[in-house]
Amino acid sequence: NTKPTVASSSSPSVVQQTKGGDVFDRLGMLSQVSGVLGCQWGDEGKGKLVDILAQHFDVVARCQGGANAGHTIYNAEGKKFALHLVPSGILNEETLCVIGNGVVVHLPGLFAEIDGLESNGVSCKGRILVSDRAHLLFDFHQAVDGLRESELAKSFIGTTKRGIGPCYSAKVIRNGIRVGDLRHMDTFPQKLDLLLSDAASRFKGFNYSPDMLREEVERYKRYAERLEPYIADTVHVVNDFIGQKKKILVEGGQATMLDIDFGTYPFVTSSSPSAGGICTGLGIAPRVLGDLIGVAYTTRVGSGPFPTEDFGKAGDLLRLAGKEFGTTTGRPRRCGWLDVVALKYSCQINGFSSLNLTKLDVLSNFSEIKLGVSYKAIDGTPIESFPGDLRTLEQLKVEYEVLPGWQSDISSIRSYAELPREAQQYVERIEELVGVPIHYIGVGPGRDALILK
Ligand code: GTP
Repeated sequence: NTKPTVASSSSPSVVQQTKGGDVFDRLGMLSQVSGVLGCQWGDEGKGKLVDILAQHFDVVARCQGGANAGHTIYNAEGKKFALHLVPSGILNEETLCVIGNGVVVHLPGLFAEIDGLESNGVSCKGRILVSDRAHLLFDFHQAVDGLRESELAKSFIGTTKRGIGPCYSAKVIRNGIRVGDLRHMDTFPQKLDLLLSDAASRFKGFNYSPDMLREEVERYKRYAERLEPYIADTVHVVNDFIGQKKKILVEGGQATMLDIDFGTYPFVTSSSPSAGGICTGLGIAPRVLGDLIGVAYTTRVGSGPFPTEDFGKAGDLLRLAGKEFGTTTGRPRRCGWLDVVALKYSCQINGFSSLNLTKLDVLSNFSEIKLGVSYKAIDGTPIESFPGDLRTLEQLKVEYEVLPGWQSDISSIRSYAELPREAQQYVERIEELVGVPIHYIGVGPGRDALILK
């Protein structure tokens, strides 16, 4: 194996070139190991910030989740890219992308994504490393995901049916197959047989035959050959880079309120999209973690509690203005007001150094903007912290603060001082309530539609 190297991050960034403003240099001053994580229920717009920050980092790494993450980013020419497994740093030519041990990897999907990027002129060879410890997600995991959701009938979780949960289940019950196992094709058929037989004995609707095994083994022999140049001991590589003072940006998928431990269980994902997942999903020690940026905007896909959801006109307007339809599944997202209680809880768990408030432009049409600031139980007693109990969550009442809207187009504004006073008031009220500074404000989907505060 050739030792992976990364280009130096000292070359001027695209952002610096296009913006030429000093304020954007601050992006390069983030800690050596920094992270971008979702504060709420995902789709907050993490991809755009990662793509912008990537220009100041040598490595961008994913630590958890799989192709259920759906980052939408635009390159310098405004071309849209929807990424699922490949880290959002890929559009920045200098950046090395790492898919860490905590990620579950669907190889057909990964190769399709690589093919799509390469046919659009984005070179991936030598720029993506896949951990030998990452678990392989097979097509049958996706079939099982669907069967499990059908079984749950009315109380279905609303998963993306990408097989993420079944793959993590196999990892935890210890019969999963890892990327490194592709280097031992002699034992691979036996391992796959065990996995498939297990699924067949559990689900009546799952048809398993020797032909199926044979075909899958043949397919994976080809995948193994193609993946070989990408496979690495990423724990060693990443820690080596840390020793060399290379800058590493961790890109979270999903978000804290979907965390398997801290989220609205069982309506959660199967991994840890919060700060702890960075250490377990990449093999990085907690003390090397520096700046962690939380990305905040409140929508939700799938089932589960969403206290500040708006079922009326405001919800429809938020969906329409924010084009809230999932990158991965195309499903309409549930929309509502910013949930400050959930945001505070998320800040507590992750210890965010700053926040990125996204989609401020989406609020431009409202004469009044609501902030969900506290919760009360059904009997009127105040709820001090974000409840772990599903029933309490479903029954609670949200108390709102109502702020004046600005009702003007802010999408071309690039400095905080130029924002309407009402927009500044909204930002500053959130900072005051949460106690964490908002350093980044999104005013549009494009790469340059970011205000630094
Ligand atoms: P997950 O990892 O799946 O949770 O997604 P994500 O947080 O990476 O979200 P993504 O980057 O896909 O962003 C969701 C949508 O918001 C995309 O369509 C983005 O283009 C869009 N978006 C991001 N920032 C802004 C913003 O400031 N304003 C507007 N209007 N749209 C934005």
